[in-house]
Amino acid sequence: MSLKKKIKYLTPVPVKKALKYIFYLFEDIITFLSGKKIKGYPPKRLNFVGSSEFKKVGDEFADHFIKIGKMKKTDTVLDIGSGIGRMAIPLKKYLKDGEYYGFDIDKRGVKWCQKNISNKLLNFHFEYVDIYNKYYNKKGKIKASEFVFPYKDNKFDFIFATSVFTHMMPEQIIQYFKEVKRVMKPGGTCFFTWFSIDEEAENKIKNNQSNCDLKYKHTDYCFYSHKNVPEAEIGYKENWIIDQLKKQNLNGDLKIHHGTWSNRKDGFSYQDIFISQKIK
Ligand SMILES: C[S@@+](CC[C@H](N)C(=O)[O-])C[C@H]1O[C@@H](n2cnc3c(N)ncnc32)[C@H](O)[C@@H]1O
Repeated sequence: MSLKKKIKYLTPVPVKKALKYIFYLFEDIITFLSGKKIKGYPPKRLNFVGSSEFKKVGDEFADHFIKIGKMKKTDTVLDIGSGIGRMAIPLKKYLKDGEYYGFDIDKRGVKWCQKNISNKLLNFHFEYVDIYNKYYNKKGKIKASEFVFPYKDNKFDFIFATSVFTHMMPEQIIQYFKEVKRVMKPGGTCFFTWFSIDEEAENKIKNNQSNCDLKYKHTDYCFYSHKNVPEAEIGYKENWIIDQLKKQNLNGDLKIHHGTWSNRKDGFSYQDIFISQKIK
């Protein structure tokens, strides 16, 4: 195992989070003093959603939603696990005549989005839900496996979850898919990202070539990387994901764009992108 991987997987999660905060606090101070802070974006120390290339990843995905997901300007969109606005910020202009809804289980992220986005844009809405997740919300009181989305039936044209099902356990995903089916209009589009394990990814994991270890087995189809905090990084067998989409009639015109996370050479993005429609 490389030193980078050892640090990634062996450092306890709370220590990693604290170190990241301190490191970025200094970077924020320097950015502020040098007048280089980008307007409309959260400070780096509050970024709990992964890559430090916050704007680049958001811009990349807004482009994917539009070009390969065919999101329309007038769509009513749901962002499951909206974090701290990484996807919402680059959609502000595009969805001028549409409607955006996001919910998340991290209070600080939701509060930042409410204060900095929906206070100014009446068609952008963010909601906090106190759901338990060992990595993101250890004190949460609601079970994701029982959560009913706070929206009426057949409301959305486009529902996305970027880097969210990579932090959720199987029974929780099954419930979220049921809810996606309920709140999605017939023909509406799902855009979900995964660590999807097909034969190629499985071989890379076995040969220790993958960027994500995914070496602990939860079930025959669910694997994770951090021994004590599974929710830090979870992958699913590709067939299981497709079966769950099929069970909810969410597999219309399914397209899979494999990513580079497993060290696949021809990857499209980092995580695997699944785009499909709710069958009418
Ligand atoms: C890696 S971050 C990605 C955030 C955002 N989707 C993005 O791409 O910037 C994972 C997010 O999933 C959220 N999350 C985890 N479990 C969730 C659940 N059961 N329901 C909604 N959000 C959840 C976390 O709070 C966190 O904001």
